[in-house]
Amino acid sequence: MDLIKIGSFIAEMRRQHKLTQREFADILGISDKTVSKWECGKGMPELSLMLPICEVLEINLNELFSGEKLTDADYRKKAEENMISLIRETEKMKKNIVGGDVLGQVCNIDMNVEEVHKTNTEFWSTIGSELLGTTSLPSWGGYLPSEDKLNLLGDLTGKRVLEIGCGNGGSLKYVSELGATDLWGIDISANQIERTRSFLEAQGIKAKLVCSPMEENCGVPDDYFDLVYSVYGIGWTTDLDSTVKHVYSYLKKGGVFVFGWSHPIHKCVSLENGKLIFGNSYFNEEWYRADMGDKEIMLCNRMLSTYINALADKGFVIEELVEETDKEIAIASKNDFGRKALMVPTAFIIKARK
Ligand SMILES: C[S@@+](CC[C@H](N)C(=O)[O-])C[C@H]1O[C@@H](n2cnc3c(N)ncnc32)[C@H](O)[C@@H]1O
Repeated sequence: MDLIKIGSFIAEMRRQHKLTQREFADILGISDKTVSKWECGKGMPELSLMLPICEVLEINLNELFSGEKLTDADYRKKAEENMISLIRETEKMKKNIVGGDVLGQVCNIDMNVEEVHKTNTEFWSTIGSELLGTTSLPSWGGYLPSEDKLNLLGDLTGKRVLEIGCGNGGSLKYVSELGATDLWGIDISANQIERTRSFLEAQGIKAKLVCSPMEENCGVPDDYFDLVYSVYGIGWTTDLDSTVKHVYSYLKKGGVFVFGWSHPIHKCVSLENGKLIFGNSYFNEEWYRADMGDKEIMLCNRMLSTYINALADKGFVIEELVEETDKEIAIASKNDFGRKALMVPTAFIIKARK
């Protein structure tokens, strides 16, 4: 499907109807940024918007997919071509498995650190927590048993702890309640840091918060922490090796690193009619861009061995790998994500020691 051609066609038809991007967006109940994205060829309208678009622009679906007005003679040939492209697009969309759902459109990208940081910071500074939800300890998310059951963090009385990707601050509150006395957090988004700060201040909890990408040296002390942990934070790194190297240096000898992230197998399969369908190869570690509402994220899927080898390579000793589903929660959820969690782990946790 030629997104540039379709985008120019939408723009041309919109102008013919004497509509600004804003007016067109208002009629469709979306943002003018989304219209601009289509018109620049950076994405296709969602399925639910296609008929309303055709109605407003007085075109038919076949013309929308072709990106041009069609004569009667062209119609049948184009319909066939468009059908094939649509099937291909659907296959592509299935690959974008983020969190519990198959979301938006996905396309592979050449990873550029600055672009990834900018895109993901924008997402987390605005709609991230609302769209993907927040996961704070004691929950490790993804139908995993909770920290209350797993007890991976151990006795935190008087301990120095650092959270990577501290988000909204919920987990720092939890470790403070478990007795940790020196609390630190790193997050790439200044807005998230501000959320953590005001949330903790309201609870009377003090923490040192550092706004920085986790893969960079950001002035956090070396050989200092008893525990470094992360809940759905580590997978956002553009450089796993450098992140693990930093974490290793922040920890005291004997200190522990515990982190949870989406299980790579979960990102490869989706549940359709009670069956798991592979939409993505487990071995595929390419970077991709995915539409999330009117924002985007940039991520890659990493195999479990990639995480384990990065830890081993830096000198960590792996003590525990959790890839369990809390069956009670999964059954009670009565949704597809829960049903999937009964067949494959949706998340994993690794505990490693320096
Ligand atoms: C899924 S949230 C986890 C936050 C926390 N567990 C919560 O539920 O609020 C991921 C966090 O990682 C942060 N993040 C994304 N990329 C990052 C990077 N390269 N370095 C540091 N933080 C990053 C985001 O800003 C976001 O706050």
